Amino acid sequence: MAVIPVDVSGRPYEVRVEAGLLAELVPNCRGLLRKPGVPVVTDQTVHKAWGEVIEASLRSNGHEPHWRILPPGEQTKSWAELSAIVDWLLDLGVERGDHILALGGGVIGDLTGFAAAILKRGCHFIQLPTTLLSQVDSSVGGKTAINTPAGKNLVGAFHQPALVLADLAVLDTLPARELLAGYAEVVKYGLIGDADFFAWCDANGAQMLAGDSAKREYAVAHSVAAKARIVAEDERETTGTRALLNLGHTFGHAIEAETGYSADLLHGEAVAVGMVLAARYSARRSIMPRASADHVARHLAAAGLRSELSGLGLDCDGHGLVQHMLHDKKMDAGTLPFVLMKGIGQAFLAKDVDLADVAKFLDEQLAG
Ligand code: NAD
Ligand code: GLY
Repeated sequence: MAVIPVDVSGRPYEVRVEAGLLAELVPNCRGLLRKPGVPVVTDQTVHKAWGEVIEASLRSNGHEPHWRILPPGEQTKSWAELSAIVDWLLDLGVERGDHILALGGGVIGDLTGFAAAILKRGCHFIQLPTTLLSQVDSSVGGKTAINTPAGKNLVGAFHQPALVLADLAVLDTLPARELLAGYAEVVKYGLIGDADFFAWCDANGAQMLAGDSAKREYAVAHSVAAKARIVAEDERETTGTRALLNLGHTFGHAIEAETGYSADLLHGEAVAVGMVLAARYSARRSIMPRASADHVARHLAAAGLRSELSGLGLDCDGHGLVQHMLHDKKMDAGTLPFVLMKGIGQAFLAKDVDLADVAKFLDEQLAG
């Protein structure tokens, strides 16, 4: 088992990575489940696949699960579900010292984490991430949020989990497309600050995706360790270090907004194209060698991800995509910081990016 400490000041916690953690859920929670009743938030798909495993571990250790089983999908991260969860937790008599279990992908983790952040001004929660994306990214670092009509993740709080149990066995029931979308976030850590890890992805990514368990453990643990280092350094995204995790996201979010956040393009899929665009834009400005940018695109395409903006069939121009960027959460007094790369593993925050130039670049990329 890999155990990765997340050293946030005042509230350090661990991320445990191993196959089989959920089957031994109660011992793995190491005394945090202090009452017989345990609230568990999940979605219908995850409940179908993993509900019995959780139920068995809780009941065989003298606990009774209280399930809240929500519809799968992004629309569940809403005010309505948040309000209903909070009322449900209050009805259950959950106290600040209790721990709520979030069993699912980033949707369930973000929603449950936000409910935990505001219930009685903050109670504990444990992340049980069930997608690759949530294991390597969303379950670690304490960003919680819901969506509103104005956009995604615009309402939320920083609220760290008490523990994260990333059970690699859950990846066996995850649809291949979701696994691949999560892989984009794995590659991201190599591109941000670890050329050796990107080289590892080049050599081992395909086997990892195909199910090699040792390579899965390495990929998840290595990604979590990278995220933990960044979060420990800049928990609230104030110094610029944590902002590097947005590599590919400014372009990616604009593409997602253009597609109406449709299921035709998953978040990780948009991030993959976004990382290629960040690399190509860096090369266009002669910051990154063109060959390195081409390498990024080749790697993601070989893994099976879409890498070309021109291949997405968008009905817009570069200006249209830039208009979406103006609504980005990172917009700061009229400027938008972009994560660019000097090379593979050398991401940095550029605050001097001219959006008119980005629009021109995107026109070229849309044309193919
Ligand atoms: P998700 O939670 O929507 O899960 C994807 C799909 O996979 C769902 O249909 C779900 O039911 C299904 N699923 C989950 N685990 C499964 C399993 N083991 N077996 C079978 N099916 C399973 O998507 P996601 O990609 O995990 O998360 C996306 C969300 O995460 C977005 O809302 C995004 O904003 C958020 N996010 C948050 C952060 C953060 O730092 N908090 C970071 C990245 C993304
Ligand atoms: N997923 C970006 C962050 O946690 O900061």
